[in-house]
Amino acid sequence: MNILRLGVLVSGRGSNLQAIINEIESGTVKAEIAVVISNKHKAPALERAERHGLTTVFLDPKSVAGMSDPRQAYDQKLLETLQHHHVQLVVLAGYMKIVTSVLIDAYKSRIMNIHPSLLPSFPGLHAQQQALDHGVKVAGCTVHFVTEGMDTGPIILQRAVPVKEGDTADTLSDRILKEEHGLLPRAIQLFAEGRLKVEGRAVHVRDA
Ligand code: GAR
Repeated sequence: MNILRLGVLVSGRGSNLQAIINEIESGTVKAEIAVVISNKHKAPALERAERHGLTTVFLDPKSVAGMSDPRQAYDQKLLETLQHHHVQLVVLAGYMKIVTSVLIDAYKSRIMNIHPSLLPSFPGLHAQQQALDHGVKVAGCTVHFVTEGMDTGPIILQRAVPVKEGDTADTLSDRILKEEHGLLPRAIQLFAEGRLKVEGRAVHVRDA
C-alpha cells in the first residue's frame, strides 16, 4: 500500500508540524512528510523539519512581487513544488497566508487547515483574542478542508476547550494548542484511512 504523502505549509513556530512529526514517528499516523514549505525565511518550523531530516523549501513571496496577480503567482509556484514532491494531502499547520483558487482547484478536498476557534465563530487572525473579547465560555479548535473564503470550508473535526476566569490570550491559546496537537494528526490519519467523505458542507467520518 502506498503511504500518504503530505506537504506541510508553515509560517512560524511549527508546534503543529512537530505534533504531526511525532505521531508519524510513533506510528500513530501512517503518512510521510514529503516536503515542508514556508513563506517565512526564518520560520522555526523549518528548523524543526530539518532536525528531523525532512525536505524543506522556503518560497519567497517577494519572488512574485510585481506580477499581475502575485497571490496566484505565488500559489502557482507552491503548486509546482507540491507536485514535484508528489504530495497527495496539503496540511496548513500555522500557515498564515490566504491560499487562492490555483491551489484549491488543484487539491480539491485535499487541503486541510487547523484554526484555533470553534468555526464558524472567530475566523481570521487572533481567534483566541476574538473569543475572549466576545466573552464566550467555550473556545476550541477546528480542522477543516480549505475552500475559497477565510476559514469557511467543510469541518472535519473540532474540540472544545473551556475558557477560564482570568484567561489571557496566551493562557487560552496554550490550552487550545494542546488540543490542536491531537486534532490535526487525527484528521490526517482519518484522511489516510480514506474515512472522510465530503457532502456539501458536511464531512462524514466513516466508523467514527
Ligand atoms: C496555531 O494555533 C494555529 O491554529 C494557528 O496558528 C498557530 C500556529 O502555531 N493558525 C491560524 O490561526 C490559522 N488561521 P504553530 O506554528 O506552533 O503550529
